Amino acid sequence: MKRKRIIEILDHPTTGETVFVKGWVRAFRSNRFIQLNDGSTMNNIQAVVDFENFDEKLLKRVTTASAIAVQGKLVESEGKGQSHEIAVEKIEIIGDANPDDVQKTVMQPKKHSLEFLREQAHLRFRTNTFGAVFRIRHGLTFAVHKFFHDKGFYSLHSPIITGSDAEGAGETFHVTNFDLNEIPKTENGEIDYSEDFFGKAVNLTVSGQLEAELGALALGQVYTFGPTFRAENSNTSRHLAEFWMIEPEVAFNDLNDNMDLTESFLKYLCNFVLENYPDDLNFLDARDQQEQKAKPEKDRNPMTLTERLKFVANNNFERITYTEAIELLQRSKPYKKKKFKYLVEWGTDLQSEHERYLVEKEFQKPVIITDYPASFKAFYMRQNDDDKTVAAMDVLFPGIGEIVGGSQREERLDVLKKKCADFNIDEEELWWYLDTRKFGTVPHSGFGLGFERMVMFATGMTNIRDVIPFPRTPLNAEF
Ligand code: 4AD
Ligand code: MG
Repeated sequence: MKRKRIIEILDHPTTGETVFVKGWVRAFRSNRFIQLNDGSTMNNIQAVVDFENFDEKLLKRVTTASAIAVQGKLVESEGKGQSHEIAVEKIEIIGDANPDDVQKTVMQPKKHSLEFLREQAHLRFRTNTFGAVFRIRHGLTFAVHKFFHDKGFYSLHSPIITGSDAEGAGETFHVTNFDLNEIPKTENGEIDYSEDFFGKAVNLTVSGQLEAELGALALGQVYTFGPTFRAENSNTSRHLAEFWMIEPEVAFNDLNDNMDLTESFLKYLCNFVLENYPDDLNFLDARDQQEQKAKPEKDRNPMTLTERLKFVANNNFERITYTEAIELLQRSKPYKKKKFKYLVEWGTDLQSEHERYLVEKEFQKPVIITDYPASFKAFYMRQNDDDKTVAAMDVLFPGIGEIVGGSQREERLDVLKKKCADFNIDEEELWWYLDTRKFGTVPHSGFGLGFERMVMFATGMTNIRDVIPFPRTPLNAEF
């Protein structure tokens, strides 16, 4: 008999139909009720056995986490919690699970801390929480491609190994095949990269943007969606050393067009989850509400997870300049009461405490901050006429902080060359990037969405380590 996925049966149950399913046992109660899950949905199917009809030894092997196949008739359920259940006729054990071993794992059916679940990241997919998170993560991946494809963008695979540090933060991981105990040196004692695999120093990419720009200046509108790597030593709940980023780039778009695109993209992603993942979302919503209750009243989010997604989907983002943000902050209560730890002064970067104040207290909705001082933004951002600020934009989300960073790019060759000099960037290394400014250069813009931060927002998970299958963070690359 052909196996059916549990979601197919639960979504369209036909009473009386004989069905055949395979999955992992979540629980076996009273020697009668098996809760079976195959990962296709949050929901288990209930399989009911008449223990007199089955070999006792066989039923003993139906334990939590074991894999079984079940065949039987689909009947209407008398119990609560499900409309239909399987009246089991045949059981086959596919893979045993020793109950003593299961006891020590996250599969033991009780509440586990997220820290403990992280230590068992190889098994945490088996829990309801992580099943829901990773189904939604998949949905968002698909939605990203769908959004751009439907708008006529082309997906561009930017390289993972590169010679450039697009963001100029110097936080790259080196890539080499040198024998690290015998690194070739030049006469003046420096590392001789000409002897290395690529004949030059290379690193894992921090961003696919520079290559996306090259694509956009021919294909018109492109996007990258790939892993990016940053050796920032920040052990926070919002930073990973390996994270995924979506970077659209559009020829002829200015900063306003860029903001419009970002906003419609983020709204689309929220709507996609709301429409396509109601079961997972409801589960995570209930989970989120429990977490909120455990917090002190002042830190609680007044909105549920679903309400937060709807709110973003249905409300315009606030748009302000950096200069306005500084003025607002300087007029704020926490500033006057000296509650901010970091300086609020034109020319210094906004810290997360300031961003949180603006998003969560002042506007209570997503905020796009534009036109930051050139000094703390990347070299490629377009210089504004005031000569002090650049056409940059950061999108800040409630509970997340910065979720998107983007800008209009500097398309004027002379200005860009000057920026390279100011930032100590060797023009020769970026010759190919500068070259595009010589042949029909045009205004263009793009942005980068931190995919995991989007998954955090959509699932209500508050630690970025819990929205990527196997997190890479300082001192941690297990699995
Ligand atoms: O603001 P960032 O550094 O911008 C860029 O890389 C540009 N090249 C994007 C572009 O214009 N094409 O990074 C973009 C986003 C951030 O807003 C944040 O959401 C995420 O990437 N991000 C991280 N996410 C997880 N861990 C980290 N260490 C991250 N660093 C940035
Ligand atoms: Mg940024």
